[in-house]
Amino acid sequence: MPSRTNIGSPYMQFAKLRSEAKYNLASSGIMSYPLKDLPLTVDELEICGPTLYGYAPLLERLARLNGVSPDCVVTAAGTSMANHLALAATLEPGEEALVEWPTYELIVTTLEYLGVAVRYFERRMEDGFRVDPQEVERRITAQTRLIVLTNLHNPTGVLTEEDTLRAVGEVAKKNNARVLVDEVYLEALYERRPRPVLCLGDHFVVTSSLTKAYGLSGLRCGWVLANPELAQRMWHINDLYGVNAAFPADLLSMIALDNLERVAARAKKLLEVNRPVLDSFLRSRDDLEYVRPEFGTIVFPKLRHGSVDGLDRLLREEYETSIGPGKYFGMPQHFRLGIGGDPEMTRVGLERLGAALDTTRGQ
Ligand SMILES: Cc1ncc(COP(=O)(O)O)c(C=O)c1O
Repeated sequence: MPSRTNIGSPYMQFAKLRSEAKYNLASSGIMSYPLKDLPLTVDELEICGPTLYGYAPLLERLARLNGVSPDCVVTAAGTSMANHLALAATLEPGEEALVEWPTYELIVTTLEYLGVAVRYFERRMEDGFRVDPQEVERRITAQTRLIVLTNLHNPTGVLTEEDTLRAVGEVAKKNNARVLVDEVYLEALYERRPRPVLCLGDHFVVTSSLTKAYGLSGLRCGWVLANPELAQRMWHINDLYGVNAAFPADLLSMIALDNLERVAARAKKLLEVNRPVLDSFLRSRDDLEYVRPEFGTIVFPKLRHGSVDGLDRLLREEYETSIGPGKYFGMPQHFRLGIGGDPEMTRVGLERLGAALDTTRGQ
């Protein structure tokens, strides 16, 4: 068994302790939705309620949102806990998972914590960071029980279409494995969001939350979609982590879901303003190479020359600006930019990034 002495997530420690800045381009989600903008009265809230294996009205709403039956839904504290439950329910210690690269580090850290061996399949920049099912087939082994990817891809924001996911599903099926798709950024397609990939078959498992696309991180409204038998297994694993969810959070999540169009409208407006600003920033920089994602809140440019660590330090020390260094995603020459923040903050942040890049040019 691997040691748990050194367990911990460098990325999460960065996100919690070092990503904050006046001009924050490191955050990957839409800025917080204010509670006062949700139509609710205190009478609609309560401290305790029947949330044992999920709160039925919340399960029903999430089932409706995702076009599945409520027994396929497991609620969890954010996509983070949803991923933990999904990984723990589909893998045994000593088995193997095949994970996309670059990757959201928490997936790997959780797999290691669970005693699962990790292999990678690459998503190459020269190939637009797309998922190549043939590459997945080349990398899968007889020990692989789970293929893991994110859609939209974190850190690049690239969308994987259903046909590709179906092809990955076929590779998994042939090898007696499943596919876990973390769809937390897919929510940012709003009304254009494709159906959750669970509809492609029982060998798929989906995780998501209201965190990234709606600015509702504080609700911790996450979920897993899985076949009912697997979902039951996750509920039983969840028993080890707590008796029930925070009931007021479940009630607020229901209210948010009942008003999701209003919440989404604000997020879409923000992105409509910020995306062209990002586009014109990127077009103006010959020192960056990038794949422009069509949707979502993030992009993952490559710094052609110089060090991202140096740029990060300069931004912090001289420009009150933060970025997401690519080393946390396994690609140290890249950095992640988020465009879900306040438009003025984002505009000035990008300007400052440009000024810092000008300073370091040729160094
Ligand atoms: C791919 C991915 N999954 C999950 C999470 C965590 O989501 P949540 O805040 O809903 O736990 C993140 C946050 O950065 C993420 O990028």
